[in-house]
Amino acid sequence: MSGPLLRLVDVCKSYGAVQALWNVSFDVAAGEVVGLVGDNGAGKSTTAKIIAGALTADSGSVMFDGEARRWGSPREAHGAGIEMLYQDMGLAPELSVAANMYLGRELRLNGPLGRLGILDRAAMAKGAEGALRELHVNVPSGDYPAADLSGGQRQAVAIGKSFMWTKRLLLLDEPTNHLGTSGTREALDLIRRLRDHGAGVVFISHTIPYVLDVCDRIVVLWQGHVAAVMSSREATVEHVVAEITGSRAAMHSGPRG
Ligand SMILES: Nc1ncnc2c1ncn2[C@@H]1O[C@H](COP(=O)(O)OP(=O)(O)OP(=O)(O)O)[C@@H](O)[C@H]1O
Ligand SMILES: [Mg+2]
Repeated sequence: MSGPLLRLVDVCKSYGAVQALWNVSFDVAAGEVVGLVGDNGAGKSTTAKIIAGALTADSGSVMFDGEARRWGSPREAHGAGIEMLYQDMGLAPELSVAANMYLGRELRLNGPLGRLGILDRAAMAKGAEGALRELHVNVPSGDYPAADLSGGQRQAVAIGKSFMWTKRLLLLDEPTNHLGTSGTREALDLIRRLRDHGAGVVFISHTIPYVLDVCDRIVVLWQGHVAAVMSSREATVEHVVAEITGSRAAMHSGPRG
């Protein structure tokens, strides 16, 4: 296949009177990690949700595998191999670790006459434990209630879940929030592993050193516009921060008057 895995072309989105995105265009290749950065309210989560089928664009297009797609729901995007870890969307505390990881994709035992029967809790606990072990996420067991995990463990399980289901593209909206030093290192390693397996990754973060560390390219949003696209190899923290705050744009356009 030639061409990028994902291409956004002139995507616009407003929430009533708030214009969140203006003509946002960028690509993500298979086997590439793209950092999506910008100040609070710049439009990062809105962009990711449109790619993941949780929102639809008002105009512009989302091309996946070279075809214009308009997901009606996150489930449709999952069907195409796209997963998203939502910002600050933890686990359902009343459910176990395994039930959270299989939420909406439960395994069931065959019922009478080949119908789907009761939930196969043992298989889900085993699957969850295996996936988490492989990802070096430490939790007591798959049956463990999510409510009893620490904040960082809960975030690590949520990350593990998104990795477990990703086939083509993963959108991570501030995944390192609540993670400690080793949890963060594991999460960044996982991103690299996924990329090395040929998936595309969109990594949203306010921690620019992590972005420079793990990303191949960086897309900076400023007030709903793409202010800059940079190669991480050439970018510095100062350069990225200047684009995020709009100080470079102000420098170029001179004093307002
Ligand atoms: N559901 C909504 N209804 C109305 N306005 C919204 C909604 N969601 C986002 N917005 C607005 O759209 C703009 C972009 O928001 P978005 O959540 O995409 O920003 P963000 O870059 O992810 O910010 P943060 O770094 O704070 O997470 C903001 O002005 C925000 O207030
Ligand atoms: Mg956000």
